[in-house]
Amino acid sequence: MKILAVGDVVGRRSIEYLSKTLRRTAASLGADFVVVNGENASGVGLTPDQAWRIYDAGADVVTLGNHTFGNRQICDYLDDQPNILRPLNYPARQPGHGYTVVDCCGKTVCVCDLQGRVDLNYIPSDPLAAADWLLKNVKADLYLVDFHAEATSEKLAMGYMLDGRISALWGTHTHVPTADAMVLPNGTGYVTDLGMTGPKHSVLGIQPKLSIAKFRGDLPSRYQWADGPTKMEAVLFTIDTETGLCRKAE
Ligand code: FE2
Repeated sequence: MKILAVGDVVGRRSIEYLSKTLRRTAASLGADFVVVNGENASGVGLTPDQAWRIYDAGADVVTLGNHTFGNRQICDYLDDQPNILRPLNYPARQPGHGYTVVDCCGKTVCVCDLQGRVDLNYIPSDPLAAADWLLKNVKADLYLVDFHAEATSEKLAMGYMLDGRISALWGTHTHVPTADAMVLPNGTGYVTDLGMTGPKHSVLGIQPKLSIAKFRGDLPSRYQWADGPTKMEAVLFTIDTETGLCRKAE
């Protein structure tokens, strides 16, 4: 089974790009299952309409992260949509859910969203404990995890903790892809960060001049999306459905 994990969709124009490219790309790669991180679709957050457009573009599951509740319209919607995931390690009283189990290629596939705790504004409960809880309490043939986190160390630690216990784990949030897509020693597919679906020449999707001004210490101004060509960054995991382990991450 081939799983395509697509990096954070940044802004409205990137959803349009996804609509034109994702289905075709997934088909050309032979992907059976597609997971897209959508938490920056409207900058900070995702609206129900944008969620539908990402599904229409070819996503099977949409994951979120630290900007899950950036758009309050999503709150009611999250409870009703099994395949839009907010981090599992958020308080249970918050809307939505952190995992889903879907059928694909005759197997049950559990997809889970988790958020890290290092260098993020909102600190949720322990994501490692949440991953252990998931594997103990949710039964599925295959497990996939989107670990939405800033620190490369936290993502690597989670990867090694889950190595051999899940099919694949990918990091999201930084919008910058890492060059470490690999199969860990015990068979879990791993990459520290997928990157993003957004403007190629930008600072995480934002016009470079605005980001430069911020780092120079200018007065704050409203961020605007960068123009120019759009890119889609993703990792393809090839999973052996008999063992549940990863053969290739590319
Ligand atoms: Fe994020």
